[in-house]
Amino acid sequence: MAISESTINEIKYRNDIESVISPYVELKRRGKNLIGLCPFHNEKTPSFTVYPESGSFYCFGCKAGGDIFTFVKLIENLDYIDAVRLLAERSGIAIEEDSYDNSLSKLKEKVYDINRETARFFHEYLMSPDGKWALDYLVGRGLKISTIRHFGLGAAPDSWDMLTNHLKAKGYSFSDMLAANVIGKSQRGSYYDRFRRRVMFPIIDIRGRVIAFSGRAMPGEDKKSGKYVNTSDTPVYKKSENLFGMNFAKSHCAESVILVEGNMDVISLHQAGFENAVAALGTSFTNEQAKLLSRYTKEIVLTLDADAAGINAAARAGEILKNTGLRVRVVSVPDGKDPDEFIKKHGAAGFRAVLDGAVNEIEYKLLSAVADIDVNTDDGKVKYISRAAEIIAQSDNAIERDVYIGRLSEKYSISRSAVTARVDEIRRSNAKKSQKKAINEVIRPKFDANAANPQKRLNPTATAAEECVISVLFSHPDYFEEAYKRLKPDGMITSLNSRIYEKICEVLSAGKTLDISLFSDTLSDSQMGYLVSLVNSDRARENPLIVLKDSISVILDEGEKKSTADIKNMGIDEWAQNLKRVIENKKRGNKNG
Ligand code: UTP
Ligand code: MN
Repeated sequence: MAISESTINEIKYRNDIESVISPYVELKRRGKNLIGLCPFHNEKTPSFTVYPESGSFYCFGCKAGGDIFTFVKLIENLDYIDAVRLLAERSGIAIEEDSYDNSLSKLKEKVYDINRETARFFHEYLMSPDGKWALDYLVGRGLKISTIRHFGLGAAPDSWDMLTNHLKAKGYSFSDMLAANVIGKSQRGSYYDRFRRRVMFPIIDIRGRVIAFSGRAMPGEDKKSGKYVNTSDTPVYKKSENLFGMNFAKSHCAESVILVEGNMDVISLHQAGFENAVAALGTSFTNEQAKLLSRYTKEIVLTLDADAAGINAAARAGEILKNTGLRVRVVSVPDGKDPDEFIKKHGAAGFRAVLDGAVNEIEYKLLSAVADIDVNTDDGKVKYISRAAEIIAQSDNAIERDVYIGRLSEKYSISRSAVTARVDEIRRSNAKKSQKKAINEVIRPKFDANAANPQKRLNPTATAAEECVISVLFSHPDYFEEAYKRLKPDGMITSLNSRIYEKICEVLSAGKTLDISLFSDTLSDSQMGYLVSLVNSDRARENPLIVLKDSISVILDEGEKKSTADIKNMGIDEWAQNLKRVIENKKRGNKNG
């Protein structure tokens, strides 16, 4: 374990699970446990349970589960080490830096270093005489030198190895450079610069670290590699979780954020004084990005094209933002321009006026829906009104619906009650559909136990028995001796349970306390959910000792059966080894059975 057990224990001691979870989930007491609406999937009735006794949580809907570290990891999108660090910081516990001997966090530090050095290299190249072609281009697009410095823009030279050689000379290894995705490796095994003759935009996270790059080709220079080349996901970068410009926007967006499509749009807007602009890095807007924004702002202004793609994007983003509680407004930039072009032509005041015309999502959709319909004909009018009814029905706010129904009936002189009836009908049918969807979500959980322990399918009987053994030992560690003398870790049939049991044996035979947090470092998210479901199940509430003994007998029997079935396919060595194991298990079984 990268962080010492005593540090983990201290963090756990100062952060009880209820106080960690309650800022994110409204919890109600039920018996000795607490329940609430699961933050990891959409649900209307609570299936998310917090168990103060074992310091764990589990959702019966999506099967997410774990301890305080798992919870923070999932809800804040962090890796394990950063989740530990966050909880330590919150409770004022210092983690000695040298306790990180974890190789992933070391690699991450290297990647950050390489990224910073690379950004510096590109920036210096841009500002040098050799980079004149790129600087001319950026200045030609209206960027001030101060803006270029502020964003740390750069240029990649027209070369296959300048950056590689530079980083090599600084002492970085090829494998770390590959991990940072700033170089590539050819089939013949040679290394080359990934970004060549491109204007470079560093992507910087909210903590000010360079995490990735986006490189734009010069106009007119058709490249096979495309207009933009971007860093793929690396140990420090996930495209779907970051936003370009967020490092600056985070301190200017308490009220609202402007979401645009391109990096250049962000830069132009910031230069014009709209420092709350961010871009989604060439992806469609994701849940993770919405979650990031919801920590900093109250409202998102989407800038969109008034075409079909724009309307779809609005609908999608609106859907995502619904779950965050953020207010959404929408603007379309006139003449089909992007904000960067628009601002060059009409200035900051022009763009301010566009922003002031921002309407809510419903209004935007109502305006857009009229686009290809001729409402002067009866046919067109009917078509528009039924489309409008669909749009109004999407609002969950009865007052809002009533306002739009009123406007619609007035504008097209139709009876209010007719529109209301239609809207209500659509809402009823939508409710049925979403109920079905919610049920499907529960049926296909994200943290699937079958995915956690896929071998369960091969031997459900043995697996169930293994689960009982684990469950009993967590609530009755005093039965450990009894279990261990008959069943050794390699006697468990599924490899996940065997691993869990091995850890249990290690902890209990050392006389330490069994705690799920001893597993949160090494188990995956679904495996953690699986373990927590076992720990909190009361399948062995009555007669735990009998359940334990019977379960062990079942596992031993199943192990023997399995061996017989496998024997046909075994080599002679394997066969001999297996025989030995069967005999030993038998002996143990007879002695204690
Ligand atoms: P645009 O093609 O609209 O580029 O793509 P832009 O930002 O307006 O750039 P200029 O004004 O032509 O210089 C919008 C965004 O989509 C992503 C980039 O993040 C870009 O900023 N994108 C676009 C890619 O990732 N790859 C591409 O090939 C194209
Ligand atoms: Mn553009």
